[in-house]
Amino acid sequence: MQGVFITIEGVEGSGKSTQVLRLSERLRHLGLPLVVSKEPGGTALGRELRRLLLERHPSGETWCAEAELLLFYADRAQHLELVIRPALAEGKVVLLDRFEDSTRAYQGASGVAEASLDRLNDLVLRGLKPNLTVMLDMDPEVSLQRVEVRNLSMGAEFAETRFDEAELEFHRRVRNRFLAIAQNHPNRVALIPARDPVDQVEAVIWGRVAPLLRSAGFGVD
Ligand SMILES: Nc1ncnc2c1ncn2[C@@H]1O[C@H](COP(=O)(O)OP(=O)(O)O)[C@@H](O)[C@H]1O
Ligand SMILES: [Mg+2]
Repeated sequence: MQGVFITIEGVEGSGKSTQVLRLSERLRHLGLPLVVSKEPGGTALGRELRRLLLERHPSGETWCAEAELLLFYADRAQHLELVIRPALAEGKVVLLDRFEDSTRAYQGASGVAEASLDRLNDLVLRGLKPNLTVMLDMDPEVSLQRVEVRNLSMGAEFAETRFDEAELEFHRRVRNRFLAIAQNHPNRVALIPARDPVDQVEAVIWGRVAPLLRSAGFGVD
């Protein structure tokens, strides 16, 4: 028995968490065995790492690029070991808000070499790939405006405040890296326009997820 591994990626404010919620509600309603998680922070120790990665430290010190990269991979290794691999082995649908492509896009945009990312992937992922990556694409100039509105209306727990304060130019580089990943992995990655209304984006995502689940033997009709 082998489950189905789905990741949702995209720049901040592109609607990942919104669509993970929509999709997970739909899958639960259909009675599918489901694990919904996110990176960083998919385990108890990973949530400690998430805090260290995303919250501003009172000292003002920030992580150097290599330390940050290794913390993301420590989080991912733990997540794979405790959550993702066991759930897939039990034949479940695993739905993740961010995964490897985010590291490739953000840490790549921060200057980490592709070869370093490849080596860490060999060590930690050991060949595991999502069956489908939903890549929500939009101009960060617009998506970051959504984030500002969201952060005003939601608690700090939901705010990825560190990245929010980075320059728009950085987010543009991140977006371009996501687009390059989509281009290089056309079979795995579904590139989906994210500026449309929530219901419309949800429908387009479902149009990609439903056939995958059917082909894996899940009844979704
Ligand atoms: N398609 C959409 N159109 C307009 N606003 C959206 C859309 N999708 C999400 N939002 C809103 O934009 C903000 C960011 O969405 P969110 O799902 O938190 O993005 P992400 O998890 O990718 O950072 C939230 O306030 C959300 O309600
Ligand atoms: Mg989110």
